[in-house]
Amino acid sequence: MQSGKLNSTLKVIEHVSDLEPGRYRAFVPTMGALHDGHLSLIKIAQQFDAQTLVSIFVNPLQFDNPDDLAKYPKQLEQDFAKLDSLGVGAVFVPNSNEIYPSKPELIDSGAIGLMYEGKSRAGHFDGVLTVVNRLFNLVNPKFAIFGEKDFQQLFLIKQLVKQRQIPTEVISAPLVRDIDGLALSSRNVRLSPDGRKAALVISKALRAGSETGDLEKMQEIIASEPQFKLDYLSIIDENNFSIANDRTVNARILIAGWVEGVRLIDNMPVQNWTYLEK
Ligand code: PAJ
Repeated sequence: MQSGKLNSTLKVIEHVSDLEPGRYRAFVPTMGALHDGHLSLIKIAQQFDAQTLVSIFVNPLQFDNPDDLAKYPKQLEQDFAKLDSLGVGAVFVPNSNEIYPSKPELIDSGAIGLMYEGKSRAGHFDGVLTVVNRLFNLVNPKFAIFGEKDFQQLFLIKQLVKQRQIPTEVISAPLVRDIDGLALSSRNVRLSPDGRKAALVISKALRAGSETGDLEKMQEIIASEPQFKLDYLSIIDENNFSIANDRTVNARILIAGWVEGVRLIDNMPVQNWTYLEK
């Protein structure tokens, strides 16, 4: 596979055997269809090490819904062009057999892996942790960058690294939004213009709740948009994912739902968490 440009410096690595473990000190795992959210992670990675490796692998293990997997956008040539323009040295694009030569033993993501995203998407986080662990083994990076967009995923990956004493430092990157407030996501391309407008209710509700964590106000805003089908809206304690309470220092609003059948997730920290006894 070529990266398609004559003067490209991007090395496209398809085979595990062509990886040089330890060569790439900064690593950004993705599932492709790269947008500015992904690119912001890559820019952070490049600050840690110019030898940054990006992976693009749509991990079947983390999809509970075959339709979602089949519809996951694939645009490798465009992705390569974006990586090239950032001066990324190498991209790892394995197929499934490379990553899973035999049936992998799943990593159990534990109690927190069964909450929120894990509750709606059975086995999702076990699949995520299994592939991240495998990629870390293959690449052996010093730093790996993950976005706060997937806040629960970031939490569980940090937990995995700690529990297994993996010698990789997990760096978190801020969530990147479009100018209209919608959190950037590879799935956004599946929204119609009308659906996209409806999806703005998510960031609107988050902004309204971000000052003190006023759940009722957020619920009212969400209810005003019939096209948005809410899955969950919760304020959690960032330390342990329990519902935020009077002992919580860092509270964060988590929200997920569907517009036109497209799953959308978002989150925002609460600036001045104010616990109201119910
Ligand atoms: P993917 O959804 O492609 O995301 C790759 C990385 O980009 C993740 O760390 C994600 O949190 C980050 N990201 C996505 N949208 C973002 C945004 N708007 N702002 C900031 N960061 C954003 O997450 C996965 O892939 C997979 O689960 C993976 C970790 C690669 C394992 O398969």
